[in-house]
Amino acid sequence: MVDSWVNSAERIGADLHLELSGPGGRRAALIQALREAVRSGRLAPGTRLPPYRSLAADLGVARNTVADAYAELVAEGWLTARQGSGTRVAERAEPLRHAERVPEKTPPRARGPRHDLRQGTPDASAFPRAAWSAAYRRALQAAPSEAFGPGDPAGRRELREALTDYLARARGVRTEPDRIVICSGFAHALRLLFGQGGGGVLRGPLAVEAYGLDFHRGLLAAAGVRTVPLALDEHGARVAELGRERATLLTPAHQFPTGGPLHPERRAAVIDWARARGAVVLEDDYDGEFRYDRRPVGALQGLDPERVIHIGSVSKSLSPALRLGWMVLPERYVGPVLAAKGEREAWASVPDQLALADFVLSGSYDRHVRRMRQSYRRRRDRLVAALAAHAPHIEVTGIAAGLHAVLRLPPGTERSAVKAAAWQGVALDGLAAFRHPQTRMPAADGLVVGYATPPEHAYGAALEALCGVLPPG
Ligand SMILES: Cc1ncc(COP(=O)(O)O)c(C=O)c1O
Repeated sequence: MVDSWVNSAERIGADLHLELSGPGGRRAALIQALREAVRSGRLAPGTRLPPYRSLAADLGVARNTVADAYAELVAEGWLTARQGSGTRVAERAEPLRHAERVPEKTPPRARGPRHDLRQGTPDASAFPRAAWSAAYRRALQAAPSEAFGPGDPAGRRELREALTDYLARARGVRTEPDRIVICSGFAHALRLLFGQGGGGVLRGPLAVEAYGLDFHRGLLAAAGVRTVPLALDEHGARVAELGRERATLLTPAHQFPTGGPLHPERRAAVIDWARARGAVVLEDDYDGEFRYDRRPVGALQGLDPERVIHIGSVSKSLSPALRLGWMVLPERYVGPVLAAKGEREAWASVPDQLALADFVLSGSYDRHVRRMRQSYRRRRDRLVAALAAHAPHIEVTGIAAGLHAVLRLPPGTERSAVKAAAWQGVALDGLAAFRHPQTRMPAADGLVVGYATPPEHAYGAALEALCGVLPPG
């Protein structure tokens, strides 16, 4: 083995440590060492290599050995040799990226919690792969060629028509295809409506429920929208507190995260408020399909399609990975929302939209939702039974619908319960994580338990672990 630092910047342009080792003689070792130096980026494209004589002297090898090695690498395209400018690293001999260079040393992936009981995700292992693939195949075969050109920002008509019928049938939404704009989900809808830095379709201040998704509040704050918290009680948001805000964002079918539906009188009252003030209600219908013990709560939008923007997505019903959602708009907002979207569809993949249209029209969506509803209801029942058996002092609420429940805890115990859970590998959030920082309503201690995320085989162990970390009675 010959080690050498070839370090004259004038001759070579960079320090270069060449290690000549391995089988096959000096020539092969030098070729290997130079290739490795180029591949790793130590010899950048364009770098001039030392003349044969000086490198040979540095390495203690024959001049012809260096000449042969250079010639070989020129033939392979790693180097270029030009009269008058010497031998240089070829411009195209780009170093491989780090991940490709060291495949044997990929860092271990961060491990998730042992039991994931965070709210928010459906059972990813139940994604209907076969039915979705079939819908995708059918959609691609049936699509006209123009479908593969730039997309219409309103979304594919096929999907808007399918959703018009589906939402009327399943959620009581009253609309027509021209009032629907496809987006990539609820978060995207918020961005379109409020823009960045106040340049959106709607303006604040926006009244929001005192408990809600921090992520959405953050997104609104980033857009310069002030949010005003509305207190909650057993009938849902106290809409009588609405005042001069221009809009309110509600989860009327299933308050997120505390769990109840908005009382019928309050549903009527919020529409009256919007009419009287020329305001608008944003309806987040995030899990409207999943109801268990009570009659379905229809969409608020059905009460007044001109006062409510109804927003839904497939994030709970199918998968949050698809990034597909819809906005059902009062007529006056269609133009501004389309303008906010831009000239071409830049968010929701057109083939995915066509696949979803087929999935809905072929009945696959209904079948999947029905199957998942049964599965989640069973999980909900197992959660309730496990608590009754092992922690009967813990009250569980918000269980009539959705993919999560709230376990009410004695005052002052939430933080330590969340910590104890994390310590035992159980990931979940306390109610405090969802509380609006400015609300004055009294804080309630509780754990928000998502029962949809663990795969079926792991659910029993997750429940056992959960019961093990609850405060004693
Ligand atoms: C309260 C709430 N709204 C809306 C959504 C849907 O968000 P998106 O459509 O951006 O995935 C979720 C999560 O799925 C949610 O928890």
